[in-house]
Amino acid sequence: MAPDPSNQRPDRNLALELVRVTEAAALACAPLVGRGDKEAADQAAVDGMRYALQSIQMDGLVVIGEGEKDEAPMLYNGERIGDGTPPEVDIAVDPLEGTTLAAHGMPSALAVIALSARGTMFDPGPCVYMEKMAGSPEIADLLDLDRPLPETLKLIAERKGTAIGDVMVVVLDRARHTEGVAAIREAGARVRLIAHGDVSASLLAVTERSPVDLLWGIGGTPEGVISAAAIKCLGGQLLGRLWPRDETERTAALEAGYDLQRVLDRDDLVAGDDVFFSATGVTDGDVLQGVRYPSAGGATTESLVMRTRSGTVRRVSARHDRAKLRAVGGERF
Ligand code: FBP
Repeated sequence: MAPDPSNQRPDRNLALELVRVTEAAALACAPLVGRGDKEAADQAAVDGMRYALQSIQMDGLVVIGEGEKDEAPMLYNGERIGDGTPPEVDIAVDPLEGTTLAAHGMPSALAVIALSARGTMFDPGPCVYMEKMAGSPEIADLLDLDRPLPETLKLIAERKGTAIGDVMVVVLDRARHTEGVAAIREAGARVRLIAHGDVSASLLAVTERSPVDLLWGIGGTPEGVISAAAIKCLGGQLLGRLWPRDETERTAALEAGYDLQRVLDRDDLVAGDDVFFSATGVTDGDVLQGVRYPSAGGATTESLVMRTRSGTVRRVSARHDRAKLRAVGGERF
């Protein structure tokens, strides 16, 4: 009997097709880096990503997108993407992760996409933020959102065979983290504060021999799901717990059936064993080089392209000519 196409799992390396998608988003918004307009940069990235996504053979459902349909005309949550043929997949996109970073010409803005079999991606519903903790495979079993932070830092130092003063925690620079940052410093560990971009920070935290040992703090739920997809490919762990901003959000989440006490790990956030991930640097960062223009009319990109099932992690450097830039970015080139 012929296989039921509706059950078909992604069986080709879609990641290699997805790299064109994140490259297109990065190339499309790069001319707006440093121009001070984060909405325009985001819109350019969305347009570039949407343009490249059309040609991919898949029946994709956007689970993590640019918001609800009425506020996001493209790449909205629930939008169907691709040419409609199998495989059926869930998609998480962030065409420009770190809109302010890009607008201000600051490091670590990325274009990102993750993809997994249909029904395997966590939908955060009304919850905009989650508590997060992420670290490399070496310390994955030590992560705990309930244990006091200083104790966890001590355990990390012991596991690594270093002094606690060598442990570095990356944290979004937000008032909601004041107490946590003080606790980390009081324990003797160090803090790397970042203005934005906790996907890039999660990637850095799970990378072996990186200057950062742990990501901690409250950040976006979409970014949590996207980071979990990357971490499934790279190894390491991310724990998350939904963090409603106010009573209205708490009530909406409870009414929608969310368990606000539950600690979600990377496999709860993205289930299954076939996850595809691609990120392209928009601005230079610790993880990826940004878009550069080495010669008139051309540009270079650097991407991280991964798939869980094969365990492949590729760094892809590409050179793009003016025709490609025009195709993704129109008159901006
Ligand atoms: P945008 O790309 O949407 O601007 O998000 C950047 C970001 O810094 C994320 O990396 C992070 O998870 C989230 O915003 C934190 O939200 P907030 O800035 O509201 O604290």
